Amino acid sequence: MEKRRILPPEETEAQKKHIAWMRANNDCYLAENGCRRGAFVLTFGCQQNEADSEKLAGLCEEMGYAIVDEPADAELIVVNTCAIREHAEQKALSIVGQYKHLKTKNPALIIAVCGCMMAQEHRRNDIKFRYPYVDFILGPSSLHRFPQLLCEKLEKGRRLYCPEEAEYLVAEGLPIRRESNYRAWVSIMYGCNNFCSYCIVPYVRGRERSREMGEIVKEVRDLVAHGYRDITLLGQNVNSYAKDSDYGYDFADLLAELDTIEGDYVLRFMTSHPKDASRKLIDVMAESKHIAHQFHLPMQSGSDAILKAMNRRYDTEKYLGIVDYMRERMPDVTLTSDIIVGFPGETEVDFEGTLAMLRRVRFDMLYSFIYSPRKGTPAAEMEQVPQTVKNARFDRLLALQNEIGKEKNQALVGRTLRVLCDGVSKNNDALYSGRTEGNKIAFFEGAPNDTGCFVDFVAERADAYALYGKKI
Ligand code: SAH
Ligand code: SF4
Ligand code: F3S
Repeated sequence: MEKRRILPPEETEAQKKHIAWMRANNDCYLAENGCRRGAFVLTFGCQQNEADSEKLAGLCEEMGYAIVDEPADAELIVVNTCAIREHAEQKALSIVGQYKHLKTKNPALIIAVCGCMMAQEHRRNDIKFRYPYVDFILGPSSLHRFPQLLCEKLEKGRRLYCPEEAEYLVAEGLPIRRESNYRAWVSIMYGCNNFCSYCIVPYVRGRERSREMGEIVKEVRDLVAHGYRDITLLGQNVNSYAKDSDYGYDFADLLAELDTIEGDYVLRFMTSHPKDASRKLIDVMAESKHIAHQFHLPMQSGSDAILKAMNRRYDTEKYLGIVDYMRERMPDVTLTSDIIVGFPGETEVDFEGTLAMLRRVRFDMLYSFIYSPRKGTPAAEMEQVPQTVKNARFDRLLALQNEIGKEKNQALVGRTLRVLCDGVSKNNDALYSGRTEGNKIAFFEGAPNDTGCFVDFVAERADAYALYGKKI
């Protein structure tokens, strides 16, 4: 087995040549008003996709584009898609459809579609046949080839379809244009080996491959030195970090190493898979200086039969064992989870099992989803639960979680919490918002120079989704 999965430096060099070509030929593509050409990057999906988009935007900038906020101002539009549920796919297709008129107005506009949808044959065909004005497509494992495809498109003018990788590798050294100057994503691994029976990710993101610890430490150290306050390590299953390699260390070792970096910052990670969440990892968290006492541990279902059909490889007893140990070591831990409602074959008794687990564990917050069949996955072939039943269960789940979430948040009223301020709230411009160490949203009266800084906050009231209080 190949134990190190790093993209060969020749490939990285080849991409640098394409970037240089773009810069050299910048003039030919310069907008008429003399401004730099604009690039607009639109992202669907999870944090991994957001992190990928920061790389796509970084590559665009390296190639001479200015990142713009409106597609109408762009001469390059990149749509980074998600395939996790039908709704996400339909949204992306609808947006791509809307861009047709921009292309009619400006025939020089280049439209690229990338991301997880583009690693599926039927979706590639959708773009090929139904959206002929899309200039090129590439899947998430070929992201580093973006400069090459853009050059080929501009030089040769034909439509391009980048084949997905046969061998999945880690591309280091890509430029990153970060959205924030105090919160950052750091991908530590790519892909997934778990093949949960409902999930498309292993098919579109390929096999697990991990970055070397040294590269990650360098990146995090650099972020902390540049004033980043909140750093989230990303992977589909961070608990299996480095298991694909012979590095000789694991995720807990990585966290312990990162925790030694001096500075005023908080470290988080997502997502954890219960089958691999170790006591060693929890011990490292409990004893650390910088790691947030926050754990996102997707449970998916509270029925052992359904967990088995989902191919999750843990049962409710194992799940509770992790939760209990976590709370023993970190009584203040914030615990969140993902739940799928209406997985094929889910009976009323199975669903009651999920509600019972919610009452037992008392999550701070849940991300709940109605099961969406994904073409090519085993669960899509199983007997489906009727939509009306799925919807009704979803509503019951939300109602219960709203009660629990509210009670959990209300328990924090009167407590002083450290909050990283995100500036004026998007929903209420009279208030500032921020996130607690547990990643809960806090609203308060702030000041412009609080943005990007930690403030001490006392919660005065709470609902299921947020805390309201004042800065002290
Ligand atoms: N790697 C992470 C999550 C990836 S996707 C993990 O293993 O937990 C995020 C969430 O989307 C999943 O946890 C699951 O709850 C949900 N999800 C994935 N596939 C889905 C599907 N086909 N229908 C509905 N929800 C789905
Ligand atoms: Fe999907 Fe399961 Fe992998 Fe998560 S662990 S990405 S749910 S296959
Ligand atoms: Fe979606 Fe791909 Fe993430 S399918 S959830 S963007 S890994």
